[in-house]
Amino acid sequence: MHFLRTEQGVKDHLAKIKEKKIGFVPTMGALHEGHRSLIEMAANQDNYTVVSIFVNPTQFNDPADLEKYPRTLAADIEFLKNSHCDLLFCPDENEIYKTGEAPVPEINLGHLDRTLEAEFRPGHFKGVMQVVARLLKIVKPHDLYMGQKDLQQFVVLRTMIEQLHISTNIIPCPIIREENGLAKSSRNRRIGEAFLRNSDILYRSLVHCRDYFQKSEIDYLRSYVQSVFRSSDFQLEYFEFLDADTFEVINRKGKVNNIIAVIAAWAGDVRLIDNMIMSGELSSH
Ligand code: PAF
Repeated sequence: MHFLRTEQGVKDHLAKIKEKKIGFVPTMGALHEGHRSLIEMAANQDNYTVVSIFVNPTQFNDPADLEKYPRTLAADIEFLKNSHCDLLFCPDENEIYKTGEAPVPEINLGHLDRTLEAEFRPGHFKGVMQVVARLLKIVKPHDLYMGQKDLQQFVVLRTMIEQLHISTNIIPCPIIREENGLAKSSRNRRIGEAFLRNSDILYRSLVHCRDYFQKSEIDYLRSYVQSVFRSSDFQLEYFEFLDADTFEVINRKGKVNNIIAVIAAWAGDVRLIDNMIMSGELSSH
């Protein structure tokens, strides 16, 4: 596995392997099995896998969250040596946010910029787009692999790629879960003992909704999930059903085929998100 820290280093290296189809997995480190599955998908579908590790300060709306974000580079390098990663790009902040670098053109995210994650994490997606646009310019991958757990991030980046006419396919990858159903996340290692025991609450709620989706009204399922959380120590931030194609909240089943439920909740000071398809599928456009 090659290890590079600079834009120029990556560009020079990739110029030598021009004929290869590059699959790219951007990360913020603290790697886990969810990341491994993205890397495996890249290795299966492309013939050169690039992983980046960069804890991007501009996407953290909460400075405490940035400070507490796990940084485990030595372990991450070992993890990557045992996966199908060909090149690890680990830039520092000056390399990504170089002075004189053109800002990302305005992207029209419409309601994606006002609802759910955007509402609760102001400025988050601007930071995500900024860093991913920059990384795509350096790596120029054929395929970009993103986890479906961060569903709104996936839809935002899909929109950005379309609007900027970037010639990279964005591919959603299935959520990887702990044994109890908790979606794998770098933040999980911060969940306290007391919350860990009941940390399947998001997954259980989603599975219940999926099992009863055909037979039940949306209002009923929403109230059910709210009541499950009310009788727990977890704080529900949002729970909604969305049209998976437009990301519009739906309150009544109608002609929408692809429906996905999204949830965000706090386990003490750790914020967890998850989602599950209720009917149809999630398309990559
Ligand atoms: O999902 C993440 O880990 C980050 O938001 C990303 C896409 C690597 C951008 O910093």
